[in-house]
Amino acid sequence: MDRLDGSARLMIVSDLDQTMVDHCDPENSALLRFEALWESEYSQDSLLVFSTGRSPVSYRGIRKEKPLLTPDITIMSVGTVIAYGEEMTPDSEWEEFLDNKWDRNVVAMETAKYPQLKPQPERNQGPHKVSFFVDTQGAQEVINSLPQKLEQFGLDVKIIYSSGEALDVLPRGAGKGQALVYLLEKFNSCGKPPNNVLVCGDSGNDADLFSVPSAHGVMVSNAQEELLQWYEEKGKDNSKMIHATERCASGIIQAIGHFKLGPNISARDLEFPYPKVDTIKPADVVVKFYVLYEKWRRGEVQKSPSVMQYLKNITHQNGTLIHPCGRERSIHASIDVLSSCYGDKQRKKFRAWVDRLVTSPIGTSNWLVRFVKWETEGDVRYCCRTTLLLNMKPEAPEGLELTHIHTTWLEGYSATNEQTFIL
Ligand code: GLC
Ligand code: MG
Repeated sequence: MDRLDGSARLMIVSDLDQTMVDHCDPENSALLRFEALWESEYSQDSLLVFSTGRSPVSYRGIRKEKPLLTPDITIMSVGTVIAYGEEMTPDSEWEEFLDNKWDRNVVAMETAKYPQLKPQPERNQGPHKVSFFVDTQGAQEVINSLPQKLEQFGLDVKIIYSSGEALDVLPRGAGKGQALVYLLEKFNSCGKPPNNVLVCGDSGNDADLFSVPSAHGVMVSNAQEELLQWYEEKGKDNSKMIHATERCASGIIQAIGHFKLGPNISARDLEFPYPKVDTIKPADVVVKFYVLYEKWRRGEVQKSPSVMQYLKNITHQNGTLIHPCGRERSIHASIDVLSSCYGDKQRKKFRAWVDRLVTSPIGTSNWLVRFVKWETEGDVRYCCRTTLLLNMKPEAPEGLELTHIHTTWLEGYSATNEQTFIL
């Protein structure tokens, strides 16, 4: 909560499955486009929040499968669990609040009387979430009668139907929208209300997010029928909400542009040679460096010495790189090694991306930049913690140069292969 000194410039609250993550895109292109944009333009002064129907166990699963960033806040189990930071410290106050007019055993007992309700696996259930699979018609019957039945036991519940198959029974005060309202009240009470909020979703359990009045909203192009129907009935007059023409994370980028919430061009979309920048952006130069590294190895940028020259121009000629295995080499010598690896990862689902990037100024013309850097090839993942130093250098293309890069393996993600982390 207190990573930022002041108000967040932008707070993005996004669903994961089929919103941030496109399960029809094995290359994760849109997700990585968004992430490069986020790390270079927003990570230092904005907040990223994931709001998913997944339970904590199932959320951990998707983190291993997909190249996701680490959000500042994670809302799970359809707004019944809120966790902060990389450590995912749970908000116990929120969970206590949800005990109000809620008794899981009574919900289990009463829902068992509906033969159409097929319980979801145990891993999808939560202390404040009882979930089933059911078709649309069967769901309607439950929505029409279950709340009254539970009222007789003093319970007050909310029923949410998503993706034409999933039905969740939650305490009335829960849901993705209520969890967001709770967070916004917390930010307000410490004098740090975000300047802008953008909520992003694709299915029924996201309708709740679009009901938060102060937020802009984007339904991605691939939104589900039940959400579009909700929009037709209840959301149409809301000028703060759009139905994007692009899928998943590309729809989120589209909304950032549409609502003019800030920069909307990802480093991954830039053609080489990069346009000249007029301001110095420490995070941006680091993101561009690794995007180019990945594109070179995937063979997705022209095979031209000017690419290597650009990398040398933004790095100090005496700068050193400490490889996670401990070997020290000059950055320029490492760029020469990279030069001979053009396209070596073509068609290998190779990706490189940075997460948790933090820039700290040292004096007036230097920055210390910390982040973790991932490299994946198919399902194999490597990761190292990285620290680097940046100097101001007016004649360099980005006005900055990298002088020293120090990397160490993140436990559990080391490689023995010399060809990982060339840079
Ligand atoms: C996610 C959860 C599931 C829930 C659904 C809709 O898929 O895993 O339990 O029913 O979202 O909210
Ligand atoms: Mg979804």
